[in-house]
Amino acid sequence: MKAWLVAIAVLVVVHDFSHANVAPAFGVAPAFGVAQAFGVAQAFGVAQGLGPAVPVFTKDVAPLLVDRCATCHHPGGSAPFSLLTYADAKRHASQIAVVTTNRFMPPWKADPADGPFVGQHPLSAGEIGMLRQWADAGAPEGDALRQAQGRRAPASPVWTDGWQLGKPDLVITLPQAYTLPAEGTDAFRIFVLPIPVATARFVRGLEFRPGNPKVVHHANIRIDTTPASRRLDEADPAPGYDGLIPRSATYPDGHFLGWTPGQVAPLLPNDLSWRLEKHTDLVVELHMQPSGKPEQVSPSIGLYFGDTAPTRTPVMLRLGRQNIDIPAGDANYTITDSYTVPVDVEVEAVQPHAHYRAHDVRGEATLPDGSKKALIDIADWDFRWQHVYRFVTPMRLPKGTTLSMRYTYDNSAANARNPQQPPARARWGQLSAEEMGDLWIQVVPRDGRDLDLLSRDFRPKVAAEDVRGYESEIEKHPGDTGLHNDVALLYLELGRADHAVAHFQTSVALKPQSAVAHYNLGTALTVGRRLDEAAGEYREALRIDPAYANAHNNLGNVLLAQQRFDDAIREFREVVRLQPESAAAKKNLAAAIAAAEKKPHD
Ligand code: HEC
Repeated sequence: MKAWLVAIAVLVVVHDFSHANVAPAFGVAPAFGVAQAFGVAQAFGVAQGLGPAVPVFTKDVAPLLVDRCATCHHPGGSAPFSLLTYADAKRHASQIAVVTTNRFMPPWKADPADGPFVGQHPLSAGEIGMLRQWADAGAPEGDALRQAQGRRAPASPVWTDGWQLGKPDLVITLPQAYTLPAEGTDAFRIFVLPIPVATARFVRGLEFRPGNPKVVHHANIRIDTTPASRRLDEADPAPGYDGLIPRSATYPDGHFLGWTPGQVAPLLPNDLSWRLEKHTDLVVELHMQPSGKPEQVSPSIGLYFGDTAPTRTPVMLRLGRQNIDIPAGDANYTITDSYTVPVDVEVEAVQPHAHYRAHDVRGEATLPDGSKKALIDIADWDFRWQHVYRFVTPMRLPKGTTLSMRYTYDNSAANARNPQQPPARARWGQLSAEEMGDLWIQVVPRDGRDLDLLSRDFRPKVAAEDVRGYESEIEKHPGDTGLHNDVALLYLELGRADHAVAHFQTSVALKPQSAVAHYNLGTALTVGRRLDEAAGEYREALRIDPAYANAHNNLGNVLLAQQRFDDAIREFREVVRLQPESAAAKKNLAAAIAAAEKKPHD
């Protein structure tokens, strides 16, 4: 009696929406909009024999500022002021010395020994010393020298406002700008943008332009192939919505999408592109910082398409904990997690994610021979600098390597970044006052045939962790049927039908008049082989909505399993009547009739 098993796979569970894991922003290659011809560095030389040279702006400082700072510190850039002219730099001279000495600038949180990563370009001790000397000497411009040598001042670099990756194949903009209110420190808003493509495309790159770089601090970008995100957006009259991201909004095929200031991910090689289906929405979560006056925010996104299907597909691994629960005042709360890869992989990129209380963030790989390789070390985590760290040369790891993470949190009053003063208990959650701790690791199997094995091996681990997150959200919002439905689906996936039944029962208790709720409960009971109860739930769903084809179908399956062939055939006939176009419905009916003819014994 196989027929019912096959047909039961039609397990349609409708969920309102749900909560996903907050996702990373990314970033990666430096996006210099500077015109190439600019070459201040060579323009001036220190005259020989004049004693120890004091660094000057024109010769020493300007080239460095342009190379390492101006990506963000140019007019209209993401930093609060420009550092392009002498007047700009002089005004900030001592501050420049301070923030470079303490390595606050240029912002790069990873240990310089890790990687090397794309876009990593730390200042050398010599460069930092030079900036300090220049500030201490009163920030000389170097004009005298310039005149003495009869050289002309270098042309100012030109900042292009154009796309860094070239002309996009498709540009998506908000139909209407969002007005960010004047007050507050951190604002989060989620925008949902339909992607107008008529056929599936292969995406090689995505460039995000913040529209208002002064207030847009970072962007997490995902795609949703369901209407879940769109519905949330539509329910809020202003552009975008506030709140949580549905579970259906995900990263495409193991790729990071997102943006941090000064960063544009380079175009992917054709063989590593990702497939964009039609009727898909971009889900753009912006972290913004109000400026004290209302600001118009109008981001745009450029997509770059390739012409061939990808031949390599990455897998996004995620280590981390969703049962975080940090007591108020605890200055040293630690989470750890690990996963052993069952196949040879190459690590392409990593992205740590945590909120304000994390301070020590580490990931490493332990190879089967016991040797260790650092994935990422951030000794002074700053929520504000979310970044995807992409290895210049992907890190090869043999099968049997254990990837591990260890994050430490400071929930004491001494942590100046603690969003709650006095400190309060902090639990896992997407809100910035809550905490998270994830290490996303993008890997590509060395042998493409291992893709399925790796995905299947990893999936239960992440589903089990997601369950913890849902259970903690449900404790906070016990009346949210969406949460109950989503976690029930995860339990079904993990083969724990009893837990799924319990959560769907809660949904039924919350919404007794919902045919869908009864139907969902029926499916979980069916999977748990509680067939009589399942049939009862499907009948209740059909009492509320007699034209519910899936409920007829699943009830038919249960009756078949109970060898009540005539009743089963009646249900399948009803499905065919309701869905005359459906080949699956006709097939199920035929299978039921065939099963009845075999007349298995009781
Ligand atoms: C990736 C973008 C980026 C780069 C590159 C960058 N900055 Fe900044 N800088 C910022 C932002 C944004 C701020 C505002 C402070 C903040 O958001 O934390 C800032 C602030 C500053 C400040 C003010 C610090 C304060 O205490 O208020 C100074 C000074 C500064 N940067 C100097 C530099 C110098 C010098 C370099 C190059 C060596 C540099 N920055 C490179 C983005 C950048």
